[in-house]
Amino acid sequence: MSTTPPVDPLVIKSVEFIGGMASPEGWRPPAGLPEVAVSGRSNVGKSSVLNRLVRRKKMARVSNTPGRTREINFFTVNDQFVLADLPGYGYARVSKEAKALWRPLIESYISGDGPLRGVVQLLDSRHDPTGDDRQMLDYLGSVGIPTLIVLTKIDKLTARARAGRIEEIAGLLELDPEQILATSSETGEGRDELAAAVVDLITQPSWRSQT
Ligand code: GTP
Ligand code: MG
Repeated sequence: MSTTPPVDPLVIKSVEFIGGMASPEGWRPPAGLPEVAVSGRSNVGKSSVLNRLVRRKKMARVSNTPGRTREINFFTVNDQFVLADLPGYGYARVSKEAKALWRPLIESYISGDGPLRGVVQLLDSRHDPTGDDRQMLDYLGSVGIPTLIVLTKIDKLTARARAGRIEEIAGLLELDPEQILATSSETGEGRDELAAAVVDLITQPSWRSQT
């Protein structure tokens, strides 16, 4: 009896950094390809999730110093779609000026009329969603953009603790636990499920045109 190898929902053929958006009026990718953005607080693991997703060690810069990514960084994958690495929020030691710039940048990107198809919202599996996380989720809800809830660093939890933790976070956010995807950029767990969800987002009709 032969077993079929698991099919990769997103085979990576090419990944290319195409630029950064630093201000609401600043450069952003030309609107040719669908985009998916990764959002979350500083240090939650956004860059690591992106690297896992595209199977590159260093596409997005991973840092031990939170608050490093200040621009929205864009990467084209397979000449097919664009991934956006959003700057993290909620890092206390970022200057007031940087904090004041963050919101207009993110909001102009998300609520603008670009080809953004969805947001992957990351939450640390070890912690309850913070006030900033809730604000972000409320904002995404108010815009109406499709949002995937993805837990990071699930490798830091024991196998026994996982299911309970996912249920707790689902309860806090009033979601069904099945709507939450648990991932680890350390082990690669959840990568294919996330890849499949991203492929769904970019292949579905844009939410913006829906009435
Ligand atoms: P900013 O760009 O500063 O907002 O951070 P980020 O959200 O991009 O986080 P980043 O990917 O840089 O990861 C932050 C730290 O968490 C790094 O030290 C990573 O190695 C670590 N990390 C990220 N994902 C995981 C994971 O799944 N498991 C474990 N154990 N560590 C992780
Ligand atoms: Mg980062």
